[in-house]
Amino acid sequence: MAILEVKNISKSFDSLKVLKDISFNVEVGEVVAIIGPSGSGKSTLLRCINQLEKADGGEINVDGVNMFHTENGKAVYAPSKTLRDIRLKIGLVFQNFNLFPHFSVNQNIMEAPLHVLKQPKAEAKANCEELLKKMGLETKGKSYPCELSGGQQQRVSIARALALKPQILFFDEPTSALDPELTGEILKVIKELAKEKMTMVIVTHEMAFARDVANHVIFMDDGYIVEEGTPEEVFGQTQNERTKQFLQRFNDR
Ligand SMILES: Nc1ncnc2c1ncn2[C@@H]1O[C@H](COP(=O)(O)OP(=O)(O)OP(=O)(O)O)[C@@H](O)[C@H]1O
Ligand SMILES: [Mg+2]
Repeated sequence: MAILEVKNISKSFDSLKVLKDISFNVEVGEVVAIIGPSGSGKSTLLRCINQLEKADGGEINVDGVNMFHTENGKAVYAPSKTLRDIRLKIGLVFQNFNLFPHFSVNQNIMEAPLHVLKQPKAEAKANCEELLKKMGLETKGKSYPCELSGGQQQRVSIARALALKPQILFFDEPTSALDPELTGEILKVIKELAKEKMTMVIVTHEMAFARDVANHVIFMDDGYIVEEGTPEEVFGQTQNERTKQFLQRFNDR
């Protein structure tokens, strides 16, 4: 079953057309890697799906519920209650962690469960402890973000996203602010989540990782999906000339 349906999305910033006609589905349990050159629209696509930007046209359905569709050439969004319900099904982990600096690790993770989901404190605390354990951070609950390494901060932000029990978790270049050693920690956590069949969409420049962990790879260029398929298809039997050129640059490194 498709948990996310993206149909013919378009988005411009003034006269700059950033997303031109993007369609893809994400099935339950799938790990999708989105790759492509800088400026091709990957973050904008994630931001449109996560309601941080408004699309100009097209249609998005999450778990069978319409988030927006197009009428008379304009995107018509669902009522705010529906949008809120959809937002709660989707988690997003940013490149630069975006933790609240004045909150401890525990407070960062428990803030939304307590105040958005209205979870009882004991339940939120128990979930938080479990997540910290899963992230290998059981001793860091009382620390503040500035006292943690980049890799640890990123693991806290993954725990924070998981605390809302999202049905899909999006990552926008989760390792690009980290050095190679810390990158490995995050990739390991994402691999564990994949093993647990967490549905994930990951924008990444880590080609080896995309090939290894994803079961669905999307190559974007200039606002379009140029090529899409299994890792073996996209990396092993590349069809499109632009994908070939892009991957060549990684192979040459
Ligand atoms: N808020 C904005 N206002 C104006 N232009 C924007 C805005 N956000 C993104 N853009 C432009 O949209 C284009 C696509 O940007 P986007 O961040 O989606 O690319 P990307 O594929 O994520 O690139 P990268 O790999 O560098 O992160 C770029 O030309 C960018 O300058
Ligand atoms: Mg980006």
